[in-house]
Amino acid sequence: MFDHDDYTRPADAGDRWSRMAFAGLSRSGAMLLALAALVVFAVTCRSATPDDDAGDLAASTYVPVGEWDAYYAFLSGGQSGSVFVYGLPSGRFIRQIPVFEPRAAYGYANMPGTEAYERLAATGGFWGDTHHPILSETGGDYDGRFLWINDKANGRIARIELDTFETVEVKRIPNLYGTHGVAVVSPDTSYVIANGEFEGEIPRRDPEPEGYRSIMAFLDPISLDPRFEVLLPGNADINDTSKDGRWAFTTIYNLERGLTVEEMIQRDEDAIAAIDIHAAERALERGEYAEIGGVRVIDPEQTTEKLLYLIPVPKNPHGCDVDPTGTYVMGSGKLSPTVTVIEIAKIDQVESPRLAVVAEPEVGLGPLHTTFDGRGNAYTSLFVDSQIVKWNIAKAVAGDPEYIVDRVDVHYNVGHTQATLAETMHPTGEYLLSLNKLSKDMFLPVGPTMPENQELIDISGERMRLLSSFPSEPEPHDVVFMRAEDLIPHVIQTEELGPDAVADGESRIERVGPDEVHVYMTAIRSKYGLSSFTVKQGDRVTLRATNVETIRDMSHGLAIDSYGINIALDPGQTREVTFVADKPGTYWYYCTWFCSALHLEMRGRMLVEPR
Ligand code: CUA
Repeated sequence: MFDHDDYTRPADAGDRWSRMAFAGLSRSGAMLLALAALVVFAVTCRSATPDDDAGDLAASTYVPVGEWDAYYAFLSGGQSGSVFVYGLPSGRFIRQIPVFEPRAAYGYANMPGTEAYERLAATGGFWGDTHHPILSETGGDYDGRFLWINDKANGRIARIELDTFETVEVKRIPNLYGTHGVAVVSPDTSYVIANGEFEGEIPRRDPEPEGYRSIMAFLDPISLDPRFEVLLPGNADINDTSKDGRWAFTTIYNLERGLTVEEMIQRDEDAIAAIDIHAAERALERGEYAEIGGVRVIDPEQTTEKLLYLIPVPKNPHGCDVDPTGTYVMGSGKLSPTVTVIEIAKIDQVESPRLAVVAEPEVGLGPLHTTFDGRGNAYTSLFVDSQIVKWNIAKAVAGDPEYIVDRVDVHYNVGHTQATLAETMHPTGEYLLSLNKLSKDMFLPVGPTMPENQELIDISGERMRLLSSFPSEPEPHDVVFMRAEDLIPHVIQTEELGPDAVADGESRIERVGPDEVHVYMTAIRSKYGLSSFTVKQGDRVTLRATNVETIRDMSHGLAIDSYGINIALDPGQTREVTFVADKPGTYWYYCTWFCSALHLEMRGRMLVEPR
């Protein structure tokens, strides 16, 4: 179906593999062996920056008490289903944003009858596997509005508002299985793109491997509903876009259409797929799509205008990264020691997509992701070598053999790596984070499950300097940064009282039906608007509460003993929960945020009269 002439093995591919010095083994066997060996027996040399004095290193990440970090780092929470927020360079953990999991502390999805709970229940449940945080852009720079994150486990995507750091939308993406790579279409976030990494039958019916396809969904950035989807061969992995709104790229592995790991690594080449977004939009206008699951789905084989280009990349490539100038898209080889550099302007201008490849520098074993400093250098994570390698893009493209600039050991087995603002058109080239998959002996042992290890690297000079490491819960995959000064003006610290707020002095209970009551309640230091309210057993109770505080950091909670209720309320915030008062007796409600010296006294009684 796709032009397999584009996948014939180049003449020098054998050389490349023979250089990997696993003579006597099949290539794929050698690679699996190498991966396994290095995972299990990684060397334990931790003095990675021997030239630096410990005091100098400590000073370079020290942020004095009361002062703020220069960067926000948003790390995906992996199977924690959330987003972790750290300050850099200190490595201070400052927030966990719950997305696909309940979090009682923030009153997020922790009880039925709340908006967040019902949204998770309707889209796939109460856990998620988050991989790739992405930030909204205007003019190719971060605008501080939104962060999106995938849930690989349930085909979902979520939108977080950065003024409140709260999840405001979660959608399941139709026709898509295993949401993996996500990116915004630069420079103005015209779409959010999401890959369905798992190929499957579309729509999901009887298991029928012959018909399996992957998909890239082009989503409305606000509603997260697909505007259209494009069918792809193989497994669509990581994606990125050009800087001019025209191209969406994704690495593709398993063009073999294999169902086992052995079958998936037969070919020496897979691809980066380039989707011409404007051509896809024209195909939609011509009606060249099928409506599947309520979504317009384009099969690139069925369009009159070419919109899908498959550029050969060895072998089971992973990272897909566009450089800040928008000149190149790069695929990191994973099972090949190379990064494939593709000149974007050539993609639709050359006779064979292979001719758009302008360099294939060898960087080391297990290259997974590549990031940029904005000064012409690329930094590639090497999973097998446990290194970050810095290399010069122009030298690699010019064929200068001296393209490697520096290497630094990381601990251990790095997956994603990201430099500060590298996904924008204006990277700051200050720091790089190495998100290491294994921490092994790096921290105090806490049982057989180890924390994950992030390592902060100074990339402002010619040589890299490993500054510090900071652990986190399992298991971050990727990170994006915002300069503190760019985000702080967007962050609100008290909410405006909304039209649904319960005003001070308006706390009350209203019976609206024979077994239905509405309770309106304010919270302020350190009392509730009602010191008690009485309902009948079996009543459906809708409890609306407003924190009428007007100063920052004065949160209150409203938990009801034995009823599984905890409403958390930021200053100015109103929230509502509906529940059935099915147990008779006295139930104290109390404040769950320590708000004053009379915090313990901040409570009242729900009296449930037996029917
Ligand atoms: Cu309000 Cu403690």
